[in-house]
This record gives sequence, structure tokens and C-alpha cells, in this order.
Amino acid sequence: MDDTEVEIDMSETDQENISDNNSLDYKLCHQAGYLPVPLRSVPPEGLADLEVYLFNGRSYHLYRSTDIHFGQKDYQRLMGSGVEFVYVSVKDHQVYYRTIEESIEKIVSDADTQLERKTEILYSTSMELANQILLKPPGRNEIDRTAKMAHVTVQLIMQDQNAFSRLFEISNHDFYTATHLVNVCSSAISLANKIGLGDQQVLNKLGTGAMLHDIGKIFIPSELLNAPGKLTNAQHAQLRSHVELGRAHLSEVSDLPPEAMAIVAEHHERMDGSGYPNGLKGEQISAMGRLGGIVDTFDAMTSVRPYREHTFSVEDALQLLEDQAQEKFDKEIVKAFNKLMQQALNVDNNNSKKIGETSVQPSSPDFNWIETDNYTGRRHLRYHFRLRAMLRKIQRVKDNLRVGPAEKIIVHNISCSGIGLLNPKPLKLNENIMISIAGNDSEQQTNLTAVVIRCVDHADGWFTIGTKFHQQQSDSLIDKIRNITPASGFSADIR
Ligand SMILES: [Fe+2]
Ligand SMILES: [Fe+2]
Repeated sequence: MDDTEVEIDMSETDQENISDNNSLDYKLCHQAGYLPVPLRSVPPEGLADLEVYLFNGRSYHLYRSTDIHFGQKDYQRLMGSGVEFVYVSVKDHQVYYRTIEESIEKIVSDADTQLERKTEILYSTSMELANQILLKPPGRNEIDRTAKMAHVTVQLIMQDQNAFSRLFEISNHDFYTATHLVNVCSSAISLANKIGLGDQQVLNKLGTGAMLHDIGKIFIPSELLNAPGKLTNAQHAQLRSHVELGRAHLSEVSDLPPEAMAIVAEHHERMDGSGYPNGLKGEQISAMGRLGGIVDTFDAMTSVRPYREHTFSVEDALQLLEDQAQEKFDKEIVKAFNKLMQQALNVDNNNSKKIGETSVQPSSPDFNWIETDNYTGRRHLRYHFRLRAMLRKIQRVKDNLRVGPAEKIIVHNISCSGIGLLNPKPLKLNENIMISIAGNDSEQQTNLTAVVIRCVDHADGWFTIGTKFHQQQSDSLIDKIRNITPASGFSADIR
């Protein structure tokens, strides 16, 4: 594939389907473009500044725009006619999540909202906040918001014994620091609750520390955070400095209690003194720090990283923790964590929906694929899709479409409505793009055109790009892409 700008020959239909960059075509109604908002849980004033849509089972229709605001009367009318959800466009996700964040306590304490819905809202809102606190060193305001989110997570976990199982079920296991912070937060709270580490106040503090435990990574260059292969001693030292940098930043801008600071400062300390930064041993490490080290290691081991050779299954990670418990970890806490995970994995075991039976495939830089599916064989699926591909931006030049130079990207998700990308650069909303995916025969490429509807900066060198297709893609094409095997001649090195 060459790198020069080329004009492409596209059918008229394709041309019509490319949207003008300034007008998102709302008639294209794909689920990927909308977020469901549970009416019962959101105060109507929170929707006033958003375009609000209704879904009739087939398509989405604009109900209230930013000119005609959604108000109390609309809320009552819809509730009165039994409408449970309204929808907002994904492009408004930041405003939306801020609204949800403000009402999160109300949502979680609403006895009539199902646990599934609560955990979904809590997880996605926490993710949004984690992304924000990783964009720039958080100040007092962001730390207060984090504390509130931790508090609500504690509330939900204490309120329903299945909450952790649900949170674990929907959690992502990608390589982003934001995901890691959210996962470590819910696991740390659940584990602390299980071992009776303290009352609700203590759990709140622990949860806050867990959400912020790797905040020092903001100060580490993203190239180093994502560096593949073995690191030099100097690189190791720089990476390890995230603990001290995080601790120093937090004590400068906030007055976090010692329970919160402990998990930040001690999550890499190990029982035998082999950890860092202070080489503390045994009881010198606080219970918070010991617990933090266990959940942190577990989440890191089970996360998919694009260039890592191996991702551990849940079972293997638990086994490894147990093997290392003799020297590195607190044996009792590891035992309790094991029990917690067994319980979480076994909830509703009989209702398990087996989607695919693919076993864990070790990733290799030579492979187009990094796929892990159905780790547990139960309902906790870990489906990850990592495919190397090429991206070209499409521009309209007079009546022709012109595609720009090819850039290397990773496709991380594909469904009939759109495609999810990981990209080292941001893309503009409403930008038209073409994705080229090499088939098994490297000569044959699948070109898909789409429009960007979401771009999230993860502050660690990668952006998540959400797109929707210009044309509905067939299941057979998606299956074909999912079945692509390591392609010769297309092992693009994206490092
Ligand atoms: Fe860390
Ligand atoms: Fe961590």
C-alpha cells in the first residue's frame, strides 16, 4: 500500500453516503451512535442542553433539540406514557456523562432501577471520569469528583452482593490506564468489603486511592508506558517513578486521608521486600497497600496489551497470585480474593450465554490478530479484537472523493453498525474515513467507509475512535473480517 494521496473510484452510492463534514446525517440510525438514558434516573434539567431522541424499536427520532429544550413537562409526559429511555447522540457524550455524574448517587440508590442498569451507568461514568483525570494532573475539584464516584461505588457494592460480579462482567480489559483505574477501584472495594477491612468510610477512602493509584503515570512519557519488549534499567527506574510522582502530586494538591494515600504509595511493594519504591517488607506494608498490590497485579495480568506476548486468563492469573503468595503477596488476602472471584464468576452460571468457544490465543507481533475470547467459559466474556489495519481520511474535492495517505491503526471492534479503532492520533468528529483491512490473501483488501462519531484521548498515547458505517455492513462481511488469520505481507509495525 503506498503512502501518497490518491483519488479513488467509488460508486455513486458511496459518494452519496459520505456525509458532509458539517452535518451528521441523523437519518442514519445506528445504535452505535446513541446512548440510552434511563429517564427515571436522570433529572430532566440534565437533558435540557442536549438533543434528545426517542427510539421506536426501529429507528431514532429527534424529540427535543437544543432550540426546543427538554423540560419538566416532556419528562412527565414521557414517564406518563411508560417511556423508560430516551437517547442522546454519542457526540454529546461529555455533556451527558457530566449530567449523569451529577446524579449518580440518585441513580445508584433508586430501588426500582435494575442492578444491570446501575452497574452499566456507574462503570461508563467512572470510565469517563478516569479519562478526564488522566488528561492533565488532577486538581482538588477532580479529586473530589473521584472521591464521590468511589463513594457511590462503595454504596452499590455494599447494597447488592451481586454488584461486583456485574461490574466485573462488563469491565473492559484493554490496556488503558483509565480502564485499569476503574477496575482496580471496584475490585479493591469489593475485596476490602469481603475481608472486613473497615466500615463504609474506610472503603470510601480506599476506593478513592484505588481510582488514583496510578495517577503518576501522567508524568511518564507515553512512549515509555507503551514500550514493547524489554526495558533498560534506566527505563525501568523512570516507569517506577510513577508511584512517587503520583504520591507527591496528590499530597500537593489535596489532603487525601492516609488510607487513600497508602494504596497510591504502596501498591508495588511486595511482602519479601522486592517491591518498590521503598522495598517495604511484610507488616511494614499497610493492609491497603497489600490489598492494592493484589488487585493491581491481577488486573494488569488479565489486560490485553497490543504488544504483550501473553494475556493471562482469569484462572491463570488467580493461580499465579496464589503461587506467588508465598513470597510476594499477603496469603490471606490472596485467598479472600480467590473466593471473591469464584463467587463473582459463578453468579448466574446456569444462565451463561456461550458466545463462541474460541480459546485464548497468545498474541504475537507477527500476527494480525490479538484475540482473547471467553476466558472463563462462563458468562464473563472477555472478547477482544485487535486487528492491524490502514486508515485513510476521505475528503470531498469538488465532485470527487480524495483519500489521504495511509496510516497504521488498530481495529479493536467491529459490528454491523460501526467500527472501533485505536489510533495514536486524534480524529475529528464527523470526519469521513476509509479503513483497509487485509484479507487472508494479502492482495485482497476490505475497504470500509465510515464517519467518526467519537474520539477519546486516553492520555497514554492512544485514542479510542468510534465510527459508524456509511452503509450497513452484512453479517457475512463482519464474520469474514473476524475470521482473518495472520496475513502475510501485512504485518504492519505500528509501534
Ligand atoms: Fe502502578
Ligand atoms: Fe496499577
